[in-house]
Amino acid sequence: MLTKLQHRGLPAHRPLVPAACRGRRAASLRTRAAEAVEAVAPEEVASEPSTSGQNADWDYEAPAWVRERNAAFAKRLQGKLVLAPLTKGGNVPFRRLCLHFGCEVTMSEMAFTKPLLKGDRVERARLYRAKGEELFGFQVATKTIDDGMAAAKMAAEGGAAFMDINCGCPIFEATRRGMGSAMLRKPLSLAKMVAGIAAGSELPVTVKVRLGENDKKINVDRVVELLHKAGAAAVTVHGRTAEQRYKKAADWERVGGVARSSPMPIIGNGDILTHFEARARLEQSGCLAVMAGRGALIKPWIFQEFKEGRELQLSAADRVGVYRLLVSYMKEHFGDDEWGRRKAWYFFPWHFDFLTRYRSLPESVYGSSSHPLIMTRTDLVDERLGETREGLGWAERLLRCEHPSAHEAIAAALWDAGSDAEAVAALERIGREQVEAWEEELRAGGRGGDASRGGGLGVGGAREGEGGEGGRGGKGGKRRRGGGGDEELERG
Ligand SMILES: Cc1cc2nc3c(=O)[nH]c(=O)nc-3n(C[C@H](O)[C@H](O)[C@H](O)COP(=O)(O)O)c2cc1C
Repeated sequence: MLTKLQHRGLPAHRPLVPAACRGRRAASLRTRAAEAVEAVAPEEVASEPSTSGQNADWDYEAPAWVRERNAAFAKRLQGKLVLAPLTKGGNVPFRRLCLHFGCEVTMSEMAFTKPLLKGDRVERARLYRAKGEELFGFQVATKTIDDGMAAAKMAAEGGAAFMDINCGCPIFEATRRGMGSAMLRKPLSLAKMVAGIAAGSELPVTVKVRLGENDKKINVDRVVELLHKAGAAAVTVHGRTAEQRYKKAADWERVGGVARSSPMPIIGNGDILTHFEARARLEQSGCLAVMAGRGALIKPWIFQEFKEGRELQLSAADRVGVYRLLVSYMKEHFGDDEWGRRKAWYFFPWHFDFLTRYRSLPESVYGSSSHPLIMTRTDLVDERLGETREGLGWAERLLRCEHPSAHEAIAAALWDAGSDAEAVAALERIGREQVEAWEEELRAGGRGGDASRGGGLGVGGAREGEGGEGGRGGKGGKRRRGGGGDEELERG
């Protein structure tokens, strides 16, 4: 069963377990887990909702072999721009596109461990590792050591290099069950759970958190301190509270504060849209690595820009080439027939909700901005770059259109075209015939321009209300668990 989940033709997975441990690994993991579980008193982990003892000292030190494994993992992570876990967006074809542009660290969409372990088809599909994903993390939401260990075992068998536990997810679906950002309420219980999972798994275990539940409960320093003792391999800190969602700019002062004051390797996250913002965050914050979510969804080539330290200014025709590469990966993954198209359609038009937000942001013009560019209002044309509406060209104008019908039309044209040139011609025609009407409709409906979004390119403003992340479809393209809206927007 599981071998189906492993990608054919991949080089053998290199487990991040020190050589000294490998021979006796299978037998000893159980024993070690049992010891760790005993040390961390699992009944406290599962019990709800007492917060007593959460500030008490914790006399636990992760075993030396866990620390050794973590050090090897940290070396591989150092200085990287990591692709964020993105429900719906981080599908296999999209991750492959990011790999094409040099992304080296990727994460799956989040899976809930309970249904995963019961064999739920959609959750299991999240274990798929794309061809070439060498440092692939499987992300879960879990609240028990046993479930976490079992999920880590599946992840290791599926070829993942690490497992990430999502403790930043603010959606009710997770928090009502005591998972996601609800785990930040009880840092000691969280740390004990992570200790058990880390000592009971062959994979390094990372954790993704926010600054705290809300402005009054910022506890990221305490959480990171305890997670370090627990043996987490790294912690991603998204520089907002759970309550903030995307409304305010990410607080990199706080992210940097944690990174500088803790021996824990920190992956800094929030509002990275350009290569120069990524570089500056990495250099100034003291983080081991940085992570991009929406920035990658808007321009998957950000990974190449980051590596080369320059902006790739892509014309409409260039971008059509990139989007058609995504089409080819989608056809490979879902199938190049009507059924495959139907499955891909849950994802493909949705991607244009982000891809149409692409604008060139040269460092020479925007490099001095201290406000995150992803949170800055961006109009259809940029006067600072000498652009005019008429001068854009129909294909370019269409590729900047926010209207959902435009996204559907773009997706269909790209999917059906026999070549890139044919796709460009189709977009020119559609743009000429329809884009003005769509722009007008957006203006009339109050969704036009970026002013109504209240958050520029970001998911803030109108996008949030629209559902953004829009439910969980999985490979079958079937909508499950709720249907969009804020609850489904975002899992981190
Ligand atoms: C469409 C979408 C889906 C997301 N899904 C997840 C998820 O499954 N797990 C998670 O930890 N965070 C998820 N997040 C949050 C991102 O990983 C990231 O923490 C957040 O977007 C901030 O980074 P950014 O400013 O670079 O986008 C999601 C965000 C978006 C926009």
